Amino acid sequence: MQHENTMEKIISLAKRRGFIFQGSEIYGGLAGTWDYGPLGVALKNNIKKLWWKRFVEARSDMYGMDAAILMRQEVWQASGHVSGFSDPLVECTKCKRRFRADHLEDKKKCPECGGLLGDEKQFNMMFKTHVGAAEDASAISYLRPETAQGMFVNFKNVLDTFHPKLPFGMAQIGKAFRNEIAPRDFLFRTREFEQMEIEYFVTPGEWKEKFEHFRTEVWNFTKDIGLSQEKIHELEVSDADRAHYSKRTIDFEFDYPFGKKELYGLAYRTDFDLKSHSEKSGQDLSYFDETTKERFLAHCIEPSFGVDRTFLAVLTDAYHEDELGLKPSSNEDGSPEAGEKRVYLKLSPEVAPIKVAVFPLLKNKPTLVEKAREVFEVFRKQGGAVAFDDNGNIGKRYRRQDEIGTVLTITIDFQTLEDNSVTVRDRDTMKQIRVSGENLERRVSEVLAGVKIFDSF
Ligand code: GAP
Repeated sequence: MQHENTMEKIISLAKRRGFIFQGSEIYGGLAGTWDYGPLGVALKNNIKKLWWKRFVEARSDMYGMDAAILMRQEVWQASGHVSGFSDPLVECTKCKRRFRADHLEDKKKCPECGGLLGDEKQFNMMFKTHVGAAEDASAISYLRPETAQGMFVNFKNVLDTFHPKLPFGMAQIGKAFRNEIAPRDFLFRTREFEQMEIEYFVTPGEWKEKFEHFRTEVWNFTKDIGLSQEKIHELEVSDADRAHYSKRTIDFEFDYPFGKKELYGLAYRTDFDLKSHSEKSGQDLSYFDETTKERFLAHCIEPSFGVDRTFLAVLTDAYHEDELGLKPSSNEDGSPEAGEKRVYLKLSPEVAPIKVAVFPLLKNKPTLVEKAREVFEVFRKQGGAVAFDDNGNIGKRYRRQDEIGTVLTITIDFQTLEDNSVTVRDRDTMKQIRVSGENLERRVSEVLAGVKIFDSF
């Protein structure tokens, strides 16, 4: 099928070019885990930086957090995860394979061996562990299945140390773990992943207004990372499908190559969590309004973003095979060879792991290499995200940079040595222009920031 083909190509590129490797690969892999390589971590960090900038740094009502992954088991009892965070599981009576019941069309027949499937059971998705040397029930802990609870349990700490007035929020980026029955679709459903979450506390009467505010902000964030807007769709989650804590949820779905699937969630969690933690811990988690002299439990709006699903959306959206590459051309000018497709990642400059690559035209001419190194160092000192490449002919180097989404490439040739001019090439159009080397870093930054268009270099 077409989409499987596309996903295979993307997964292969991600591995070949050092974005994503299979978890524990040399031992045969660990299902539902993936490792981010050098380019992957750079892209992922760029996504997280943009999120933190929009939702924490650019606001005066948001408090950043980084809570521990391990928490007391009472946290998960109060949140409802111990009793209710489960998926329906069925086991084949013949081959003993296990499946998520709600993913099966025929709930009686094993999709692998045709055997009879057993009765549906609830399978709790939390990874259980023991803290310390004791292995008794009191030492039980869980790897957190959502970052959210780390914020609810610190609500009082933030109130007592910063004395914020409602509305205000807490924001956190961190790992979450779910023992998914059926991890699938590359980074989409994994057992270890990262979330970027906000718990935004409001008075009960203003939840609708703030819900709408974050609805717009979710869309704005998708623009920050350059996602195609037409591939994102809102879904009003029905009463039956909402999580136990939510009175209203909108899912933001994305058109992945394997179908329209959940990217983010926006939920109105009411006072469910603060109430449960107040009751379970015996601590007063209420808020006192100085103006109205009222004491009440704050309500919560929760925009929740998966980092890995964002990464996958960005990667699949950016993946392009350029038909232009089919026309015969010389690869000396950076075009693919005749009959080949040009593969490139059309990443926005904000998220691209490498923004600029610098090449000497020929690797065996020391004067060219020295000048190219000089230019490279200037960009590197400015803040990294720059590559130096003198390997193979220039056409091959362009193709390598295109494949990882490098936005601009700068070539140093013999004319550079005479008048300091360089050739700059644009990834998306493959257009090359000869420009003066004066203030090159500033002009490159302006084009990358979208302040100037490529043609106005
Ligand atoms: N605190 C709310 C919460 O955790 P969720 O809808 O279960 O809600 C939020 O998860 C987001 O976390 C999802 O929209 C998705 O982006 C990401 N996510 C959830 N499960 C995931 C998994 N198994 N693999 C990768 N990302 C996942």
